[in-house]
Amino acid sequence: MSTPHGPATRAHATEADLLDYIAGRYAREDSVQQELRRAALEQGLPPIHVSPTLGRILSLLVGISGARRILEIGTLAGNSAIWMARALPAGGTLLSLEREEKHAALARGFIEKAGLADRVTIRVGPALDSLAALTQEPSFDLVFIDANKDDYPAYLEWALRLTRPGSLILADNVIRNGAVLETDPTDADVRAVQRYNDLVAHDPRLEAVILFTRNAGDNLDGISVARVRANPSEDRAFAYE
Ligand code: DHB
Ligand code: MG
Repeated sequence: MSTPHGPATRAHATEADLLDYIAGRYAREDSVQQELRRAALEQGLPPIHVSPTLGRILSLLVGISGARRILEIGTLAGNSAIWMARALPAGGTLLSLEREEKHAALARGFIEKAGLADRVTIRVGPALDSLAALTQEPSFDLVFIDANKDDYPAYLEWALRLTRPGSLILADNVIRNGAVLETDPTDADVRAVQRYNDLVAHDPRLEAVILFTRNAGDNLDGISVARVRANPSEDRAFAYE
């Protein structure tokens, strides 16, 4: 049966059902990524990998933007790196920064298994140290921030230094199950993510939006997608004062 505006809706279709429908068709992970999830769980890594649908969003953004040089901050077990590296053109590279040697070792194994070792490099150490060593390298076309939340504002500053007009700066977990709406949060991570969102919103160099996601704990979350403007004065009519 149809209404004048389209097919009758299925009032009992839950958001979880629809998310499974989307992921099952558009964002299937392969056997390497499924094995990565199992191994990471066994080794006690936190189960906070990007969801399959977020992985697909990342690979689409790499492909649409034509990015050739990707910087990732926070490798974990390498699942997001696999999604993004698979979308790189021939000759493209991804550098991923990871604080924990144990995470990096696991990720390297699965990057190798995925056949991506020729284009992915994982550098171990505090990201702020690794970032400071990148200023002499060519700029990055895409930066994906997904590490410790309290340093998100500092990571944004580095991302702006290490990119060029037209580059994308992405950041995972910028909604934190709605905690970003709190007026005076005690949680330092929430405060840092709020600051990240405010910095992006006010920066005349950036045009940005947040896409809603469900994170690994099935909590409402979001990814900030920002583009470095070619001309910082463009579109200022809609900017926040
Ligand atoms: C957390 C971190 C993440 O990167 C994520 O995607 C989900 C949760 C966390 O630290 O709680
Ligand atoms: Mg995350």
